[in-house]
Amino acid sequence: MTRGRFITLEGGEGTGKSTQTRRLAARLEALGIDVLATREPGGSPGGEEIRKLLVTGAPGRWQPITEALLHMASRSDHVATVIEPALAAGRWVVCDRFFDSTVVYQGIVQGVGEARVRALYSDIFGTFAPDLTLILDLEAKTGLARANENGREGRYEEMGEDFHKRVADAFRAIAAAEPDRCRLIDAVGTPDEVEDRLWREVSPLVETACA
Ligand code: TMP
Repeated sequence: MTRGRFITLEGGEGTGKSTQTRRLAARLEALGIDVLATREPGGSPGGEEIRKLLVTGAPGRWQPITEALLHMASRSDHVATVIEPALAAGRWVVCDRFFDSTVVYQGIVQGVGEARVRALYSDIFGTFAPDLTLILDLEAKTGLARANENGREGRYEEMGEDFHKRVADAFRAIAAAEPDRCRLIDAVGTPDEVEDRLWREVSPLVETACA
């Protein structure tokens, strides 16, 4: 059994990750690929329980390190019970957010420290990593306006524009530092336009996997 491919979508609030996760999964399925679309925090019954602790309540509810550990706990359950079994069974997994979000939000912006978050990740997950990461890039102000229009759940959206500017910059820095794994995608435009930009980056992976 050939192992499936693991694709993650990353970016700030309101960049269209959830819509594009669904669209990408549908496009892969149309080619006959067996795909699982999932998300973080959450994605497994245990992960979804932990998600509730993270996305609701006051912005300052958790110490940054506690928050990083909650995201890691959600991820640990999600990887062990959902992602890894799917990949092992040959399915492709498209995940709305993964580890880069913890590096950006908790490691860089909330001040836990990038090295500390990376060390925590490798201690739990070793070298496990996405095959491809698509980072949706949008000005923070535009993204927050979109997220608020969509009536998003709250806690992170309340952290203010400066917080979200730093998030967008940190994602750009990751894209620049890891060009083999990451692609920065302009998220301005219609969902169709953004989907086409994403697909240009995903199709080479499909061609090599299905060759
Ligand atoms: P969502 O809005 O993409 O569903 O994600 C919920 C929030 O969780 C989002 O505002 C970013 C935040 N988040 C982190 O802070 N660290 C993480 O590791 C992940 C996966 C998400």
